[in-house]
Amino acid sequence: MFSFIIDVKACADIVPENARKRDDQFGIPKACSVEELLADPEIEIVLNLTNPWAHYEVNMAALKAGKHVYVEKPLAMTRQEAKNMIDFAKSRGLLIGCAPDTFLGAGLQTCRKLIDDGWIGKPIAANAMIMMAVSSEIYHKAGVGGALFDMGPYFITALVSLLGPMRKVKGSAQMPFPEKTVYDVNHAEYGKKFKVEVATTVSGVLEFDGNVIANFTATCDGFRYWPRLEIMGTEGVLVANDPNMFSDPVYVQRRGGEMKEMPLINKYDKDSRGLGLVDMAYAILNNKRHRANEQLAYHVLDVLHGLCDSSRSERYYRVESDCVRPEPFVEGSPF
Ligand SMILES: NC(=O)c1ccc[n+]([C@@H]2O[C@H](COP(=O)([O-])OP(=O)(O)OC[C@H]3O[C@@H](n4cnc5c(N)ncnc54)[C@H](O)[C@@H]3O)[C@@H](O)[C@H]2O)c1
Repeated sequence: MFSFIIDVKACADIVPENARKRDDQFGIPKACSVEELLADPEIEIVLNLTNPWAHYEVNMAALKAGKHVYVEKPLAMTRQEAKNMIDFAKSRGLLIGCAPDTFLGAGLQTCRKLIDDGWIGKPIAANAMIMMAVSSEIYHKAGVGGALFDMGPYFITALVSLLGPMRKVKGSAQMPFPEKTVYDVNHAEYGKKFKVEVATTVSGVLEFDGNVIANFTATCDGFRYWPRLEIMGTEGVLVANDPNMFSDPVYVQRRGGEMKEMPLINKYDKDSRGLGLVDMAYAILNNKRHRANEQLAYHVLDVLHGLCDSSRSERYYRVESDCVRPEPFVEGSPF
């Protein structure tokens, strides 16, 4: 599907063996070092799939080599790093795109159309939660940032796509278990005790334009995977799919009616990771704005940090960043 606009030319990894494995797995023309990849004049976009703590370094190296960048979430670990990257890219006329792109999938685009077409009336409130059971040590390190920075981007991005940017947030960040044990029997470090470095359960109130409010919880202290996204409006309620996925059924219940499963609006209902990158490639070729863009990703990062800042200060955080609600992505889009 994506080969019309993207040719995968090479893959690289700081661990050469990892690059060779992916090269074999996907039949990529060349596995090489990061330096070789960046020196290759044929490569126009670097898709950065490194760990969150390496995003900034790898993004900056790619931008300095004159490449556009599409990076996994989060955009960077700090606001300052993200700002540096965005300013640098702008000064060189390069684009930055950032995951997640699940908001372009069939489920969340159906939700977007249902809201835009007035099926639930005027949105009033939303309920968003991601509960997870995670016991690996790395997930609890500052370099990943717990459930908030790993899973938060899916939910906050979905909320921006559906309801617009946020203006104020109030958060409470907790660490219910300062020490944890790797309890997964299949994990190589099963039974190991480790110190938790980040808030692992974060809840907040998010305020949008037009007095729309949402509550959001991200936790990796739970006992199962349990994603929720529901939006209540003046005329009905919308039950969205898991924002971490491209689709699950989407339901609407209108005032006086029954809960109904709604038909999906675009065909990207399977694992369509890559849509955001393809959209960015299309934008480069056609001089358009890509949807999973740096402004959206920065706003999401700002909101995530804002929840933690607000927890520390015990005050609302007035979100200093802004973004434009990305254009809908419907069947019949050019690519
Ligand atoms: N694992 C998932 O299910 C999943 C899903 C969606 C998004 N993501 C995102 O994808 C990214 C990677 O996660 P993952 O689970 O695939 O991690 P991973 O550890 O399996 O893979 C990351 C790779 O990046 C390489 N790497 C690290 N630093 C590097 C550097 N400076 N230069 C070159 N290579 C470097 C590592 O050697 C490793 O091979 C993260 O941003 C994560 O948030 C992961």
